[in-house]
Amino acid sequence: KILSRRFNNNVTVETFGSSKTGFSLNSGDLDICLSFNKKTPTRVMDKISRLLFEEGMNDIRSIPKASVPIVKFSDPRSGLDVDISLDNQLAIYNSDMLKSYAQEHRLQQFVQMVKYWASRRDINEAFKGTLSSYAWTLLAIQHAQMIQPPLAPNRQIDFQSKPVSFQGTMYDVGFNNDEFMTKNKQSLASLLLSFFDRYATRWDWESMVVSIRNGQPLSTREKKWEHKGPLPLEIVTGADEGRMEHIMPIEDPFNHEHDLSRVVRAEGAMSIQNEFLRVIE
Ligand code: UTP
Ligand code: MG
Repeated sequence: KILSRRFNNNVTVETFGSSKTGFSLNSGDLDICLSFNKKTPTRVMDKISRLLFEEGMNDIRSIPKASVPIVKFSDPRSGLDVDISLDNQLAIYNSDMLKSYAQEHRLQQFVQMVKYWASRRDINEAFKGTLSSYAWTLLAIQHAQMIQPPLAPNRQIDFQSKPVSFQGTMYDVGFNNDEFMTKNKQSLASLLLSFFDRYATRWDWESMVVSIRNGQPLSTREKKWEHKGPLPLEIVTGADEGRMEHIMPIEDPFNHEHDLSRVVRAEGAMSIQNEFLRVIE
């Protein structure tokens, strides 16, 4: 309401992320996508930040230069943390697909367990240099596709194509929304243990890319996503100041050029590694 009033109904406001997908922990944030029906006003992120300040919101931080510009704030009345992102259409589409995956109740619970673990261990904040909750969700779905019998289908085979253009590039955001009947009878505990076993001991991050649209890993070589730059330890110890690339390659299901580990910094990568080791020790 605040945004519509300020921008004279020139805006569309939609929610996405876990408030839409069904993979929400009660502690999740609220993700909002703002798009302008007509021309986007100049310095729009500044205008939104000022508006939120006038409305009494707390902790307002703007990240205008990110690939998707974001304003973060918290609402003192509800206590909710909110992310407003601009023109984040692909996120709306991938949230629709995640919602389709969440139809399978045990998969939904399993993803929530993985997200809960990552949040308790403080390794689920892209802004602090670890992986986003979204990336953890993709890791969990990939595992659920690979266990036998599978707990998750691949929703990007046998689907009706739905090409959309976004920032000058075409993306196919179609997916198969059919009901999936799993034959998997594993308990949640055993699913979680096998998740840790896969990613802590059996996954080779040098050669494998997490890819839920493929239903199984892709090769870093074929994708040209081989790890480049120093190792996290070399950066943390100051032995090398270079930049790491493709440190934990995870492919976005619609934007195939987007590696979700792009945000991971050396300290973050080491924390994630340590947390996996801590589980299996
Ligand atoms: P979050 O990481 O907040 O996931 O990304 P979440 O499931 O809502 O996690 P919690 O419950 O708040 O902790 C929100 C949405 O942003 C999009 C996805 O649609 C995701 O569902 N997203 C996020 C991307 O498209 N790309 C990214 O790199 C990160
Ligand atoms: Mg969220």
